Amino acid sequence: MQRVPLVLGNWKMNGSVQANESLLQGLLGSLGPEADTAIKHDSLQAGVAVPAPYLFQVATRLRMSGLLWGGQDCSNEVAGAFTGEVSADMLKEFDCQFSLVGHSERRQRAAETNELVGLKLGQLLNKGLTPVVCVGESLSEREKGSAQDFVVGQVRAATKGLNDQQLAALVIAYEPIWAIGTGKSASSADAQAMHATIREELSQQSKSAAQAIRIIYGGSVKAATAADLFAQPDIDGALVGGASLDASEFSSIIQSACPAAQSPH
Ligand code: 13P
Repeated sequence: MQRVPLVLGNWKMNGSVQANESLLQGLLGSLGPEADTAIKHDSLQAGVAVPAPYLFQVATRLRMSGLLWGGQDCSNEVAGAFTGEVSADMLKEFDCQFSLVGHSERRQRAAETNELVGLKLGQLLNKGLTPVVCVGESLSEREKGSAQDFVVGQVRAATKGLNDQQLAALVIAYEPIWAIGTGKSASSADAQAMHATIREELSQQSKSAAQAIRIIYGGSVKAATAADLFAQPDIDGALVGGASLDASEFSSIIQSACPAAQSPH
């Protein structure tokens, strides 16, 4: 099955009104005709997950561009006395198409459990937003040889109780914690092996959803390593942290995911 490649930048807690403006201007100016056409024809999707205070700015700037924008987290609650949280309705009001949930930085810093991540993605699905569910093992799990079991457990917990249609609407981002912000990406073979394991796990729930679902890789993705990752059969794109703050670097990563860039020359 042909899945539309997806490249998302995660700005994390970076940016300012001025910096965002020049980053987005640089990005739009450097995508080039091939990526631009692919994005306009929906054969490639690309976008940015931005801090909530900048959603209005980014929505205004990207509205006509074909690029997507979304949140970095979403509350498991609908509305009410939940200081500091952002609801799925609020993301929707700024025309977000997606939101990250369960990023390892939130699992670690805010002690988010698999159960909470499941509730958050449920809120997004209820509003028709695409949950980008982040999973990934720590270095100690990898060294113990339990990385696959750990990640499968996270996927299973996050997708528990979803019907086929809901399952197919998810994006899974595999981000090994040891590769985030370290400059040490997983090899394309190791990433492919984990993506194949995740897809196999999903196919236990629904074969058709498992084929449709995009599984993207995150962890020190750079322009220099992107093409190799995207050439793997189960790697459907990337979730890019640091390199997404550099317009030309991020633009090159997006260009590498262009279906035209993948075909044999
Ligand atoms: P880096 O690309 O900076 O390693 O971050 C990856 C990430 O956490 C994206 O969500």
